[in-house]
Amino acid sequence: MKKIQISPSILSADFSNLEKDIKKLETAGADMIHVDVMDGHFVPNITIGPPVIKALRNKTSLPFDVHLMISPVHKYIKDFANAGADIITIHPEATPNLQESIDEIRSFKKKVGISLNPDTKIDIVEDYLDKVDLILIMSVYPGFGGQKFISDVLEKIKSLKDLKDKRKLNFDIEVDGGINFSNFKSVIDAGANVLVSGTTIFKENNGDIKKNIDFLKSI
Ligand code: DX5
Ligand code: ZN
Repeated sequence: MKKIQISPSILSADFSNLEKDIKKLETAGADMIHVDVMDGHFVPNITIGPPVIKALRNKTSLPFDVHLMISPVHKYIKDFANAGADIITIHPEATPNLQESIDEIRSFKKKVGISLNPDTKIDIVEDYLDKVDLILIMSVYPGFGGQKFISDVLEKIKSLKDLKDKRKLNFDIEVDGGINFSNFKSVIDAGANVLVSGTTIFKENNGDIKKNIDFLKSI
């Protein structure tokens, strides 16, 4: 069983002082920083791009777990790689050639993730499971923090874990969206080993980030 890792989403951080919140996350024991990149085209929201990632790169040694909710995505991979992303996760619907985009991420020596929206079936990535470091299961429709967890995805996580075990693969199963203190145990029991959380980590317990991360790591 892999150690449970926490990847806080800075979508819920103080955008007027990201350095402050990133340093708080590092001190609080976050394993990586989940950076939600949105383009207002693939998802109905716009957040940040490579210049912000570049500006934050030397503020922490934590890995940047960059979730690209943008399309087309292929031509921007190099910009995020050069800005300092460590993991680059893309949505299969955002590229005409998933293998080429995987190869592009690899060419920059970055870890590769593929993200599946709630209604995207595992089938479309079955042939790539041995080529990636991470499968990011969306438990909300991407675009905003603070949404309600879609519990139907628990079955999808279980199926993915079964496939991973059957094929003796080692990719991480990361779950993203609506994770809170009531559902995180079921997400882990289903087979996830990396939890993304924005609202719960930044808002629960009067914003006591360390307490919130410790609780998500408590099983
Ligand atoms: C949604 C993002 C998620 C989200 C998680 O599109 O991909 O990472 O910010 O935030 P919470 O934990 O608030 O649902
Ligand atoms: Zn995300």
